[in-house]
Amino acid sequence: MAFHNSTVVITGGSRGIGRQIALGFARDTAHALMLIARDSTALDKARKDCIDAGCKKVETAVCDLTVPEEIQDLELPAGLPGVGVLVNNAGTFLLKPLAGTTPDEFRRQWEINAMAPFLLTRKLLPGLLQQERGLVVNISSVGALSGQPQSGAYSSSKHALLGFSRSLRLELRNTSVAVTTINLGQTMSTSWEGVEVDPDELIDPSDVAGLIVSLTRMSSRSVAEEITLRPRKGDRKPD
Ligand SMILES: NC(=O)c1ccc[n+]([C@@H]2O[C@H](COP(=O)([O-])OP(=O)(O)OC[C@H]3O[C@@H](n4cnc5c(N)ncnc54)[C@H](OP(=O)(O)O)[C@@H]3O)[C@@H](O)[C@H]2O)c1
Repeated sequence: MAFHNSTVVITGGSRGIGRQIALGFARDTAHALMLIARDSTALDKARKDCIDAGCKKVETAVCDLTVPEEIQDLELPAGLPGVGVLVNNAGTFLLKPLAGTTPDEFRRQWEINAMAPFLLTRKLLPGLLQQERGLVVNISSVGALSGQPQSGAYSSSKHALLGFSRSLRLELRNTSVAVTTINLGQTMSTSWEGVEVDPDELIDPSDVAGLIVSLTRMSSRSVAEEITLRPRKGDRKPD
């Protein structure tokens, strides 16, 4: 199976940034898609939108990525080509100082932002290594590059993801699988719902999609190890 026809797995592909990444692949590439999230209605809608955008094969999987057994039970639907690209995008953001964060809230940030990418990569890596070439993209955050006084649990979980991603890159250096970390700044998505914000102040999620599509077009001789993407005018200050 040629890399350009392989399946792109996108976690959190039902809405927000993940949905835009899926639409970017649907519009501009010949890849098949597999979208993973918990809400089947949103997944069905994203699937339809990807087909309307030109993708010929789109499958969805309902999976709570914070439940290791559900990740273990995930199967690639018959008829989909092998996985060539994995985008670990699903994540949640807790806006809370550490002093007020409960142990349960702290653990849940780690489960979705750090453990889930590890577990899913672990599950899909043997298949990726059998492909002509492979790419793992981990959507981290600028919150992984410095401490965050308003969101310490989130920041620490994204620091963990960044360490995982950097290590995976080195571990796979002599294989056909490249690993890219995107340290993302504030980006327009469904996670901003309810916040009064001018979309022009935030990163356009279709730019994230375009960036990831462009990574798949680089020759296999190169890898973008780490990319930091920020709103051009800088971060919007918290309200
Ligand atoms: N937006 C920003 O400003 C920003 C900035 C820096 C980094 N990021 C990172 O970018 C990524 C996407 O963020 P976003 O703003 O697009 O988030 P979003 O709008 O809240 O979307 C999150 C996606 O992840 C899925 N998801 C959440 N929890 C899940 C779980 N337990 N199991 C499976 N799927 C789950 C959601 O679907 P279900 O709820 O149906 O499961 C949804 O598809 C995250 O990793 C985030 O940390 C975002």
